[in-house]
Amino acid sequence: MAMLDSSATRLAPPPDVKRGPPDPKTGYRPFELGQFRFSRDEYFALVSWPTPRGRLEHRLSADAFLRALMRDVAWNFFYGLVNFDPVFGSRNLYGRVELFAGRYLPAYRDAGLSYVEEFDATEAMATCKAILRDWCSAGFDPFASPEETGNAWAGPKQGDNLAAIERNRVATQRMPGLPGDSPLRDALPINRAFADVPQDDPVIEPEPGFEGALHAFNLFKYLSRSDVTWNPSVTSVCRDSLFCPTTEEYILPIIHGNDRVEWFVQLTDEIEWEVADKETGAPRALVLMKAGDVAAMPADIRHQGFSTRRSMLLVWENARRDLPRLYESGQLPAYPVEF
Ligand code: PHB
Ligand code: FE
Repeated sequence: MAMLDSSATRLAPPPDVKRGPPDPKTGYRPFELGQFRFSRDEYFALVSWPTPRGRLEHRLSADAFLRALMRDVAWNFFYGLVNFDPVFGSRNLYGRVELFAGRYLPAYRDAGLSYVEEFDATEAMATCKAILRDWCSAGFDPFASPEETGNAWAGPKQGDNLAAIERNRVATQRMPGLPGDSPLRDALPINRAFADVPQDDPVIEPEPGFEGALHAFNLFKYLSRSDVTWNPSVTSVCRDSLFCPTTEEYILPIIHGNDRVEWFVQLTDEIEWEVADKETGAPRALVLMKAGDVAAMPADIRHQGFSTRRSMLLVWENARRDLPRLYESGQLPAYPVEF
């Protein structure tokens, strides 16, 4: 069977990305980063790492792996831990990054089978992007809800979907729609789940001299036109206070280990959150958030959200650079409020 390799000339990865030739049967390339090895077949992503008893190989469903990798790439390794599943993931050291296997799973760690390796974040990102490009076939959009992208992730490699995986993340400076800032989404279609969301715009009447300073937009309209899921985008910025609203459907593709307190405001519908200990994964709470509910997610947990009906969620982040250190050293309690 002839193999497609459209990425070879147009988007050859930087020379420091270690990749092998396409597998003759499936068309997918294997990759290496440090001591980690990555390969995929028709259904699965395989990650292996060295242990004192030889290499250990771990299997994830390829769609779940690609959805998680998409988040790691789009969010530049995000805050704290990005667990692809209970075994494999990344830890952001802001400038550097750790990839880990079994480190936050006591059975592996206690048996001496876990592995952690630290990388320059830019180098690790180049490999992550190269894997994402190579392993996503045409028609599979790792940012979309399952119903909106189908099962194009299964089977041998067939083309690619560079447009979907290289989508620019919204990087608002102050607020979408201000001159020179990120655009509003009026040109995008309203998502099928949000057909009933009012589309009226606020009237803005600034006093002379305040044009370009006073601004407002319809956030529900803006979110109703989001074409991705589980992608909190910076949508208003006030010093370190970042409002990151997002639309959620199916499962948050990562299990996020917080390195700071995050606030959630459930804007519509419902999300159920499984909350567990960040270090061990021991279950701590099941939180059902209904429209209007507000929750503070502590700094010492991991969590994953489940949303049957596409819902709108506001994630409120504090981007202060010293927060991970303050929480890790115990100088700040893991909760924002003691009751
Ligand atoms: C989170 O980990 O807090 C998080 C990540 C992605 C989302 C929502 C919440 O879409
Ligand atoms: Fe989180």
